[in-house]
Amino acid sequence: MIVIQEPAELQSEIKRRRFAAARMGRELSVGLVPTMGYLHEGHASLLRKARANDVVVLSIFVNPIQFGPNEDFERYPRDAQRDLALAEQEGVDIVFMPEVKHMYPQRAKTKVQVSDLTSGLCGASRPGHFDGVTTVVSKLFHIVVPDFAYFGMKDAQQVAVLSQMVRDLNMNVTLVPCPIVREQDGLALSSRNVYLSDEQREQALVLSASLKEARQRIDEGGITTAADLKAFLTDRILSKPLAEIDYVDVLTFPGLEALPENAKIQEIEGDIIAALAVKFGSTRLIDNMLLQKKGVAIYA
Ligand code: PAF
Repeated sequence: MIVIQEPAELQSEIKRRRFAAARMGRELSVGLVPTMGYLHEGHASLLRKARANDVVVLSIFVNPIQFGPNEDFERYPRDAQRDLALAEQEGVDIVFMPEVKHMYPQRAKTKVQVSDLTSGLCGASRPGHFDGVTTVVSKLFHIVVPDFAYFGMKDAQQVAVLSQMVRDLNMNVTLVPCPIVREQDGLALSSRNVYLSDEQREQALVLSASLKEARQRIDEGGITTAADLKAFLTDRILSKPLAEIDYVDVLTFPGLEALPENAKIQEIEGDIIAALAVKFGSTRLIDNMLLQKKGVAIYA
């Protein structure tokens, strides 16, 4: 495993490996797993999927431009040594670990912006967040030129936004959305879970529990409309005194369009998503459940 900090050095390394393979009459497939580090089992699951490629690149970069002024950029958890050990264990070939000065050497004048899909859900409470994500991910795509890039479905809106960006800009990469990885008790894995006190963590289980219960009720016919689903999730979450709802929404996926209040879940064409963002103290957690046409959750 090699560790690279400079974008130009990584570009040369990837080019060198592709040329070497081409000389032997082979094509090289490159898989990229973009992360902000403080790796957990969710990231490990992406790395295992990426192992289907000849070369696995893991990027670790806490991207300042996707954090708002009052967000947790400074205190975002970081542990480079632990991350490198996990990367080694998961068979990563190249770790790209730039510093801010490497990714943003002078005041940049270009940003990548996806409209519409970024205005609701997390985009509403985190203005500019997705511009930061699409800008850094397109930089990573230009640096690594991956064939496949792996993203967790916990950030479902991010997956929808990045898929749109790839389509709109004819980027030659296939995005691979991967299922949410959860603790045994249901809590969706997130680097931010370390911020939670014991009491907050206990109450935060309501997110996954309410989604799971909702799915059962949909299957049994107790919840039939998008409005019922939203109301059920809201009530369930508000039963926890420490929970402060940022949003509970039920939308089409990946279009992220609002559904008519009385739309019958079982009759909606295409996938729909129930998405939650809830604060416990200063920690904002997200979770979601994707429902296929017939009300079967595939990523819960
Ligand atoms: O999902 C994340 O960890 C980040 O948003 C990403 C995709 C690595 C971009 O900084």
